[in-house]
Amino acid sequence: MFADRILSGMRPTGSLHLGHYHGVLKNWITMQHEYECLFFVADWHALTTHYDAPEIIEQSVWDMVIDWLASGVDPARATLFIQSKVPEHAELHLLLSMITPLGWLERVPTYKDQQEKLTSKDLTTYGFLGYPLLMSADILAYRSTLVPVGEDQIPHLEFTREIARRFNHMYGREPGFAEKAELAVKKLGSKKARLYKELRNRFQEQGDDEALESAKALLDEQQSLNLGDRERLFGYLEGGGKMILSEPQAMLTVASKMPGLDGQKMSKSYNNTIALREDEASVAKKIRTMPTDPARIRRTDPGDPAKCPVWALHQVYSNDQTKQSVVQGCTSAGIGCIECKQPVIDAVLSEQRPMRERAQLYLDDPALVRNIIADGNEKARKLAGETMRDVREAMGLSYA
Ligand code: TRP
Ligand code: SF4
Repeated sequence: MFADRILSGMRPTGSLHLGHYHGVLKNWITMQHEYECLFFVADWHALTTHYDAPEIIEQSVWDMVIDWLASGVDPARATLFIQSKVPEHAELHLLLSMITPLGWLERVPTYKDQQEKLTSKDLTTYGFLGYPLLMSADILAYRSTLVPVGEDQIPHLEFTREIARRFNHMYGREPGFAEKAELAVKKLGSKKARLYKELRNRFQEQGDDEALESAKALLDEQQSLNLGDRERLFGYLEGGGKMILSEPQAMLTVASKMPGLDGQKMSKSYNNTIALREDEASVAKKIRTMPTDPARIRRTDPGDPAKCPVWALHQVYSNDQTKQSVVQGCTSAGIGCIECKQPVIDAVLSEQRPMRERAQLYLDDPALVRNIIADGNEKARKLAGETMRDVREAMGLSYA
């Protein structure tokens, strides 16, 4: 039906806020009309950093699914499931770990970055190091063709593509390929053969792209090779065989610029969020007490919207007319800050109203949510099972 299959996951590490809605969920909701979509609760991913707080994960899983549904993620269009209910992810992670060079994992930028940033946690764990590979397994298990990612996750996607390539090279080959390739290596003569092997190892074990380029250049210079051997040696560098796992494409999504209550990006760690389904009184109070242009001390002082976090929210929520009257009223001290905040309060509340209503349905009848997820788990297992059959067979694990 759809040409592309999209997979995306979210970690259950706390309740969702409007930043998630504007940054991720609105995108999911658009995509569910255009692609085959699989959206999952990445509970194992959450454990890679929150292994000491299982209660947070347990609480967040169902709340998060309700937040998705409340936002308009439609279970009739997208498959919603929980990662740990599809053990194929873990099996594929394990099998891929056999062929994953440690260096590739150590070089994923988030590995060192997060360890340096999250100093309150010991992230020198096997699970944390392996997190990008678990993400690869998530993606490859469904032969996903498109994965929406922010800038920071591009390296994970590139890593996933390399893993898929390596797997296909290793297990997708014609019978006797390796022997034939080794014979072709010998024909290079001992000096060049040694160089070829060294470069090939550097690429395959450390992902050294320069080594790959040098090896290709070396082969380009060999006039005396016959065509078959030439092809083999090129193929042997990277592999070159049957495609068992497919390489996904990254679909770059623009990072959410959703401002929080203090003007910084909305984020739980800045304590500046409005929850997706926060109750009305609390939303109104949070916005009413938001800081404004610090130079505007008295009502009669003119202000500068550029220095005011409320203005950042107007950018998200207000039409041109409202924005104009804010600029006009603020810079001339014609309006007070409370007055200026009211349209933002109204807009946030009316954005949230349908969400709260939809959520109520599921809160009143939790079995509804459980059934949606049970269905999704089953569908996901079926799809992942198809891939796993091929993977097991390729790795010599398909005994009768
Ligand atoms: N990496 C994302 C995160 O940690 C979630 C995630 C896990 C994901 N597996 C994925 C996203 C696969 C897209 C595809 O927040
Ligand atoms: Fe900010 Fe509005 Fe007050 Fe100006 S009038 S300082 S934009 S809240």
